[in-house]
Amino acid sequence: MAKVKTTFFCQNCGTQFAKWQGQCNACKEWNTIVEEVIQKPEKNDWKTPTAKASKASIPLRINEIDSTKEARLNTFDGEFNRVLGGGIVPGSLTLLGGEPGIGKSTLLLQISLKLPYKTLYVSGEESQKQIKMRAERINPNNSNCYILTETKTQNIFKQIEALEPDIVVIDSIQTLHSDFIESSSGSISQIKECTTELIKFAKETSTPVLLIGHITKDGNIAGPKILEHMVDTVLQFEGDRNHVFRILRAHKNRFGSTNELGIYEMQGSGLREVSNPSEILISKKDEELSGNAVAATLEGMRPLMIEVQALVSTAVYGTPQRSATGFNAKRLNMLLAVLEKRAGFRLGAKDVFLNITGGINVDDPAIDLAVVAAILSSNEDVSLQKDICFAAEVGLSGEIRPVQRVEQRILEAEKLGFSTIFVSKYNKISLKNIAIQIQLISKIDDLATYIV
Ligand code: TYD
Ligand code: MG
Repeated sequence: MAKVKTTFFCQNCGTQFAKWQGQCNACKEWNTIVEEVIQKPEKNDWKTPTAKASKASIPLRINEIDSTKEARLNTFDGEFNRVLGGGIVPGSLTLLGGEPGIGKSTLLLQISLKLPYKTLYVSGEESQKQIKMRAERINPNNSNCYILTETKTQNIFKQIEALEPDIVVIDSIQTLHSDFIESSSGSISQIKECTTELIKFAKETSTPVLLIGHITKDGNIAGPKILEHMVDTVLQFEGDRNHVFRILRAHKNRFGSTNELGIYEMQGSGLREVSNPSEILISKKDEELSGNAVAATLEGMRPLMIEVQALVSTAVYGTPQRSATGFNAKRLNMLLAVLEKRAGFRLGAKDVFLNITGGINVDDPAIDLAVVAAILSSNEDVSLQKDICFAAEVGLSGEIRPVQRVEQRILEAEKLGFSTIFVSKYNKISLKNIAIQIQLISKIDDLATYIV
């Protein structure tokens, strides 16, 4: 009998080792190295290398290469198309990652049900009945969508050969299992092997494959980093599970930009595309409340008006509490220090709570000014006018700094009926014929004089 061949893999980063050790040299994690059996008998995965597959390619002059635009498959989901850069490229592998329960299976099942092409949805996680129940809530009438519950790649390929689908969806890569490797599903070598087989299948038949991938507790796609290198596109589905909004981003895209993002709303009947997110994120209240301010932010390339709420109150305990939801807590502390030192507000003995409504996480520095305005408004207990908004970064010396694409933000604010927008004096603005008033400010004190 042939000797069983084993190697050691770090389950965190995928590095391979010849022998076991306690700490991974590459990612410095402890106790993540596990022995895995790698045994490769004669390989006959997706059609063993035939003459066609092993055809050597020859160099071509760059101007001889046919560059006619790749026809893309329309997914009939505006947000998904936008993030992919116009649709699915034939023969591509797309990986969709996200926390458990965020809606990955729902999104891809929903897209499979909408497609007019023959789609094979392979699930290793749920039974056909469970999927049917979910499909009934979303779109019960589709005769082009086939459901297969299977985890062995060899069996999946057998079904694919019989069915010849136009698109294959795999839920999820961590449940797949190939006969050529003996380690268990979800292990590094299994994930690598199954992905390689799928890539070979996709490239040889020009069938696009959509993969669902689990993520680890620190937010990375479980499995080797190499998985992200192998696929063409990596999408991330994120959001707060307790809120209805979900954001789809591209982390890597070989066929388009990674700046686009898609927004969905989770409803009882699946995910609804949100094409005008700003209108939903701002609460349309009639009375003016203190501590609320609206920021004109950009998520990727999309302008998004977001409401910031702050509550400043006298600290009950010795150490004042600072807490931020949807905003970086360190940045909040920095802004409070700037307010204290540069504008003379005594916030050191106050509790400060900050919340970005809608369960959205904002990284855009242009939200700073709205955060400061909300804090001042709550601290002084004066409400801001409903129809003003903010777009600027705040620097350490209390200066109001310019932000990128300010004109796009101004136009979005105007479209939504804001009458005034506060931006940095140092932003170059060449917009003409606009109804919205642009208030240029250069220091944090300027803002304080407007509010207080
Ligand atoms: P799911 O797609 O199973 O998440 P994932 O595959 O990322 O783990 O869906 C998760 C949640 O979505 C589930 O808790 C219920 C909710 N949901 C709805 O609110 N409406 C719906 O129509 C569906 C299908 C699911
Ligand atoms: Mg799922």
